[in-house]
Amino acid sequence: MNIAKELQTVAYLFASILFILSLSGLSSQSTAKRGVLYGIAGMVIAILATIFGEGVEGHMYIFVAISIASVIGYIAARKVEMTSMPQLVAILHSFVGLAAVLVGVGSFLDTTEFTSNAAHVIHLVEVYVGVFIGAVTFTGSIIAWGKLEGRISSKPWSFKGLQYLNLAVFLLIALIGIFFCSPLASNGVLLLGIMFALSCFLGISLVMAIGGGDMPVVVSMLNSYSGWAASAAGFMLGNDLLIVTGALVGSSGAILSIHMCEAMNRSFFSVIFASGSTSQKSGVRTAIEGEVTSIGHENVASNLMESNSIVIVPGYGMAVAKAQYPIYELAQFLRSKGKKVRFAIHPVAGRLPGHMNVLLAEANVPYDIVCDMEEINQDIAETDLVLVVGANDVVNPSAQDDPTSSIYGMPVIEAWRARQVVIMKRSMSVGYSGEDNPLFYKPNADMLYGDAKESVEKLNHFLKDKLV
Ligand code: TAP
Repeated sequence: MNIAKELQTVAYLFASILFILSLSGLSSQSTAKRGVLYGIAGMVIAILATIFGEGVEGHMYIFVAISIASVIGYIAARKVEMTSMPQLVAILHSFVGLAAVLVGVGSFLDTTEFTSNAAHVIHLVEVYVGVFIGAVTFTGSIIAWGKLEGRISSKPWSFKGLQYLNLAVFLLIALIGIFFCSPLASNGVLLLGIMFALSCFLGISLVMAIGGGDMPVVVSMLNSYSGWAASAAGFMLGNDLLIVTGALVGSSGAILSIHMCEAMNRSFFSVIFASGSTSQKSGVRTAIEGEVTSIGHENVASNLMESNSIVIVPGYGMAVAKAQYPIYELAQFLRSKGKKVRFAIHPVAGRLPGHMNVLLAEANVPYDIVCDMEEINQDIAETDLVLVVGANDVVNPSAQDDPTSSIYGMPVIEAWRARQVVIMKRSMSVGYSGEDNPLFYKPNADMLYGDAKESVEKLNHFLKDKLV
């Protein structure tokens, strides 16, 4: 082994360790920043070690490509709103998928001679699997982007026999694969092209069949697919670091998907194979009973002053309104008056895993007052006031008592069990799942209509200037 190769191996090993440290850092909010820094350092080392590695030519072109991509990435990251982050992540996953397809095709067209027939067959399997995973990730991520962006309906696309069709397409892909890797195959490019088209269809149909309520699983699942696609590209390029990194992303994405399924009480396989992406059952819809009552800002402010224990439930609307700063100001004020104030985070609140945690961290909310759903549900009955800030599905009681609801079975924050609930949103419109929310009709619930940020600012005004 020459010195350049040895240095590259050491650099790859070091980068792999940094990626593992990055993942472990990202598992907790207090160490997340450090985790991101480890990830950046690992990626810089990985890129440099690859570019200056043995047999790499055309450095000029590589630097031009990296410069253009860095400028695009920088502008996209600066411009993207926090609420559009999930879409950005989804579209970035599609790039990874496309990259794996291109690497696969390039690798297939490469005329390098193989040392043995077995090595050639292994290479063909790598190419085939890489292009397959890449194509499914590519189109699946584009559909996920469309659903998250609201360009494609979040309703599941389903018809009788869809699963059988998917299974048939998958079996056909496998059959073509066997032929592709055998010595009988004379037109590999054509076979690869047919498989690419079929895999693109599979990516579309798998994600189209998933309903709004199950989208969190899709986001993390595509994250996992993109990792496996990168890993497959690593095999094709003979790049150990890409194999390790891809496997880290693939397995952590898969673990996250399983956690998401647990949080939503869904079966992992039924979501992945779209066999009943929601647990919606046919039957007569339970009519919502009760009357919706609204409340004014001044009354909410005085109710807050009279409460000892307050729980704030943030949701996607808080992200849209960017209400995290005034809401923390409100929490700080109430805490300074000796009240117990806690934030309740539902695992799928918002549109991205950890979406609410990120927003609250951005506003410097201390971690010790940010609680998870189970913790809050334990003593929510002793809570005086629950303030729901732009959340809807994650506080919907239908998840517990309406078997016809598409979110039936999903654990939710049981806000209705508190003495009083105030829901801040702009209208009576539904949440992401498209389900009506009986919470709004409960006798102990009041609607505080308006943009969440404006509403919280008004509350702060009443609390600080009028009531004190
Ligand atoms: P949602 O159920 O989507 O409800 C958000 C509510 O915010 C809406 O009903 C909307 O009502 C309100 N809103 C929007 N803009 C607002 C503003 N400026 N001020 C005040 N309110 C505003 O949110 P959630 O409770 O956080 O639940 C998340 C949903 O997204 C779940 O169904 C989940 O499965 C799904 N999902 C989650 C993820 C991840 S990984 N977290 C990914 C994809 C999908 P108005 O229009 O009346 O204001």
